[in-house]
Amino acid sequence: MIFAANLKCNHTRESFREYAEILNSNLDQNENVLVFPPFSAYEKTDYKFKLGAQNFYPCESGAFTGEIGKAMLDELGIRTVLIGHSERREILNESEEFLKVKFEFAAKNGWDIIYCVGENLATNEANKTKEFLKNQLNNIDLSYENLCIAYEPIWAIGTGKSASGEQIEEILNFIANLTKAPLLYGGSVNAKNIGQIAKISSCNGVLVGTASWDAYNFLNLIKEAK
Ligand code: PGA
Repeated sequence: MIFAANLKCNHTRESFREYAEILNSNLDQNENVLVFPPFSAYEKTDYKFKLGAQNFYPCESGAFTGEIGKAMLDELGIRTVLIGHSERREILNESEEFLKVKFEFAAKNGWDIIYCVGENLATNEANKTKEFLKNQLNNIDLSYENLCIAYEPIWAIGTGKSASGEQIEEILNFIANLTKAPLLYGGSVNAKNIGQIAKISSCNGVLVGTASWDAYNFLNLIKEAK
């Protein structure tokens, strides 16, 4: 199972150092753990977990104020990226067109991509989830070999209200008909509900926000999944 921690805009360089030490000394070597810290906390250090980028701008380098390009990721040895997270879609206004450009740039570089999709509450309540997700997924090459899809219903992100096991299974099975990529679920995953989520056969892992921000909480969640 893949355990990905999205630290979002949390952790300073100093607090992340401590976080990383705790994870590193408590994880098994063969665990598939991926951490997305804020850019300012990156260090070129060998951990038992992999580091990924929450964001990047689709350029090598250049006049893109406030952005991070490939040259900076290369320097840190980062080859795993998140694309399409709902917070970037909604708060930072990243459009389908822009996400396509980011996807193609990352794919051209052979990076591992976690591409996030998910519907809002209104779409979910109107029973239009599958149609909506199919449109989001039509934006990218679903046969790209280093792709992983994260299904994250927006109404479940940061709300403490995860989708039910049945809902997750139904949607992941639907996505599995469209792509052979590994599938993650994200949205209020925690140590209490991970046991049930881990049992879903089409679920290859989880993308965790809130419950990953404390290293011991995240370790506990990983332990509970077994
Ligand atoms: P959450 O966030 O676990 O706090 O719901 C998940 C995410 O945004 O990836």
